[in-house]
Amino acid sequence: MLLFNKVCRCVKRNRTLMYFLACVLVFAGLWLFSQLSDVQNFSNETKDVEWPTIQVYDLPETAVLVMAANREAALRNHMNQLLKFRPSDPLVPIIISQDGNKESVTRLATSYASSSLNISFIHHKYRSSSGRRVDRILRNYFYIAEHFKWALDRVFFEMGYSTVIVTEDDLDISSDFFSYFAATRHLLFEDNSILCVSAWNDNGAASLTDRSKSDLLHRTDFFPGLGWMLTASVWKELSASWPEAYWDDWLRMPEVRKGRACIRPEVSRTAHNMKLAGKGSSEGLFKSFLSSIRLPDTPVDFSNVDVSSLKKKEYDISLAAVLRDSMPLTFEQLNNTLDATKTYKTIYKTPREFKILAKKYKLMGDIRSGMPRTSYYGIVPFICNGARVYAVHGNFNETLLLDGSSSSSLYTEIWTRMCRYLDFEEQFCRSDKWTGSCHPEDPGMIEWFERKGYGVSVPKSWSDVIVN
Ligand SMILES: *[C@@H]1O[C@H](CO)[C@@H](O)[C@H](O)[C@H]1NC(C)=O
Ligand SMILES: *[C@@H]1O[C@H](CO)[C@@H](O)[C@H](O)[C@H]1NC(C)=O
Ligand SMILES: *[C@@H]1O[C@H](CO)[C@@H](O)[C@H](O)[C@H]1NC(C)=O
Ligand SMILES: *[C@@H]1O[C@H](CO)[C@@H](O)[C@H](O)[C@H]1NC(C)=O
Repeated sequence: MLLFNKVCRCVKRNRTLMYFLACVLVFAGLWLFSQLSDVQNFSNETKDVEWPTIQVYDLPETAVLVMAANREAALRNHMNQLLKFRPSDPLVPIIISQDGNKESVTRLATSYASSSLNISFIHHKYRSSSGRRVDRILRNYFYIAEHFKWALDRVFFEMGYSTVIVTEDDLDISSDFFSYFAATRHLLFEDNSILCVSAWNDNGAASLTDRSKSDLLHRTDFFPGLGWMLTASVWKELSASWPEAYWDDWLRMPEVRKGRACIRPEVSRTAHNMKLAGKGSSEGLFKSFLSSIRLPDTPVDFSNVDVSSLKKKEYDISLAAVLRDSMPLTFEQLNNTLDATKTYKTIYKTPREFKILAKKYKLMGDIRSGMPRTSYYGIVPFICNGARVYAVHGNFNETLLLDGSSSSSLYTEIWTRMCRYLDFEEQFCRSDKWTGSCHPEDPGMIEWFERKGYGVSVPKSWSDVIVN
């Protein structure tokens, strides 16, 4: 008591010290409050969960890895959904991995991890220097790749899971998300031509998909990512040569993919939460495509779905048969008068033709490692006026599909570079921009870039294009 009085007197004498102590107290109070409110918010949410009716899950030795960085609200939203739809008996473990040091995210992740809901938190705090060599805008791609490798190494090599579902904090998930992965998991072990199972459909807009066939699944050569499951043995292989940046495009390269495909749904089971994603997501480049992706209207119990038809041999035989029976149409004939009970096919012989098709029907128009998005042996399925249409690559040949040839023999990097030229053309060679010879190495055009203040680096960054 005596000591206390002494301290008080001392404090009263020293105004600065008093303010300082008051500040400390206020901050400590705020910190404590935010800790408590974090925990309360989500335990409140999980209390009166509406469990989906689907209860048959088979996800042994599987964890969900949530990739997070600096978006607290996004992580909270994503976790709320995972906790709501996660199988309850036993609780599938969730591992939150944070890249960087945003404190609010660390605090939120820590509070989840201390909740005894089978959630753990791993923290990638120290980034290697590789990203610092490049532009600030490009640096994130290096950080992201480094974080993925670090986190996947930990969950597979240290924690020892045999399959992992990788998600990202800005994704919304469907209520049958776990049912989908539980039903397809065994395919990863039974068919080594399957690289991953993904919940994402790149052409998942409502108008492009058959929403009445929400249980329909496909194979795709084009790695979709965005909510995907892989095995430890695939990770062991990928980890050894993981790239410094652009890891998703790297996974699409023929020497990495090795002819393997991913499973993807007709109706996407993940969607970008555009409110929470912020502008960090794909530079807003694919914003209109991303925001058109729709989750299913009603959940599917995938344990009742025959997923064995996705195994390569069976799938390829039935795809060949469907294509044989489809009616060939030119782009001009693909119009409002299609019969929804029939299937159609249309051939794209060049990247330019594919772009025209993509633009007309609002498909994703980019080409990576020679492949359009969702392509399987060059075939891009979509819905047009209610009817199923298959866009067929000019190099497609039924024998190729049926004789076990790798789909990589159909794709060529030349298409990627031709497609880049078409992007270049669309961006710069327009009546309101440059109307001369359209080529990044054209002296007149280089001079125009300089005059307009683009700088020399812009035409240089397009030097790999092939004019077509
Ligand atoms: C959850 O929080 C809301 C307000 O955010 C409150 O009205 C409700 O009573 C809480 N429910 C439980 C079960 O604590
Ligand atoms: C947590 O996950 C592990 C698998 O890693 C499982 O064995 C355990 O039963 C789960 N705990 C609960 C409470 O469901
Ligand atoms: C629409 O396509 C059908 C064939 O599918 C064709 O007969 C018809 O002429 C086309 N109509 C237009 C307006 O292009
Ligand atoms: C399809 O490919 C096979 C070999 O893979 C070849 O023998 C055949 O001539 C090709 N067919 C066509 C129509 O190009």
